[in-house]
Amino acid sequence: METLTLLRPDDWHLHVRDGAMLRTVLPHTAARFGRALVMPNLKPPVATVAEASAYRARILEALPAGARFTPLMTLYLTEQTTPEEIDRAAECGFIPAVKLYPAGATTNSAAGVCALERTFPVLERMAERNLVLCVHGESTDPTADIFDREHLFVEQTLAPLMQRFPTLRIVLEHITTRQAAEFVRAAPDTLAATITPQHLLLNRNAIFHGGVRPHHYCLPVLKREEHRRALLEAATSAHPRFFLGTDSAPHARATKEAACGCAGCYSAHAAIELYAQAFAAAGALDRLEAFASRNGAAFYGLPPNGDTITLVRRAHTVPESFPLAEGGDTLVGLFAGETIEWQMLPQGESA
Ligand code: NCD
Ligand code: ZN
Repeated sequence: METLTLLRPDDWHLHVRDGAMLRTVLPHTAARFGRALVMPNLKPPVATVAEASAYRARILEALPAGARFTPLMTLYLTEQTTPEEIDRAAECGFIPAVKLYPAGATTNSAAGVCALERTFPVLERMAERNLVLCVHGESTDPTADIFDREHLFVEQTLAPLMQRFPTLRIVLEHITTRQAAEFVRAAPDTLAATITPQHLLLNRNAIFHGGVRPHHYCLPVLKREEHRRALLEAATSAHPRFFLGTDSAPHARATKEAACGCAGCYSAHAAIELYAQAFAAAGALDRLEAFASRNGAAFYGLPPNGDTITLVRRAHTVPESFPLAEGGDTLVGLFAGETIEWQMLPQGESA
């Protein structure tokens, strides 16, 4: 049987929510990843070090017994964030990054930034204190076509921001376009990008395959096949500034399968397996470890994890849904009810 052993990967962009949802989803991530960068878009947002510290404690409490998993926290950048809060974040030891949501760009982004210049003193301090800025890179111009929002953001906002703050380290999160991949490749070493499994495996036809498919709706929205190919090429190129960030974004089934369904694909149940499938299809399994386990840690200035995971090529069916820890609703994962080719061996089992 074909097997693949990798240094344990990290997930550099993850939503775990809170309460019952946190208890439902965290075991999936903790079984696979050594660390994850936890997004702060709770309601209300995680905007201070005190709030991030309390959230981190709730995550640690929700971990299954024996799990060796480290949550890394982010602060939600608002126009009220102060440079002093950045100092506290830099000193606390568990906040490597601050997240910029343009107001209105995505789920729970209402408290985000309308006028970027109001955050300049904070960005200045972040550059001085070596905190990473994670960016949801989509234009919020209501007249902009939804399929153009990422490349418009890159041209109109990201490029000038990088000129103004040349030493600020930035991660353009969940890139979805050829233009974004090309921009990152051509950019200085201060810019990196994460790529999700759905953007490597699916194009925008998947949203409409035989009818509307709400579980394939996320932001930035899936793009044309040409973009999927460019992303796969970037991910498998061994370029050090592309790395794994699932953007696993759980929403209860009833809020996805609705007249106005939430944006977000849940992928934590099979995250590394789905990346293996994408890399195998590109004939690039030998590049998966760099993308999944080395490049992100290096960008964040951390050593790679010291242990390994093993994947086997063994076709299996993804469960139709996962019951939520409370409340009776369920959670539908990416490729629910479909076959995926790779499976992660439980700790201690050999192929
Ligand atoms: C994310 C969520 O649900 O929190 N949704 C998504 O479609 N990706 C927010 C985000 O990362 O944009
Ligand atoms: Zn996200």
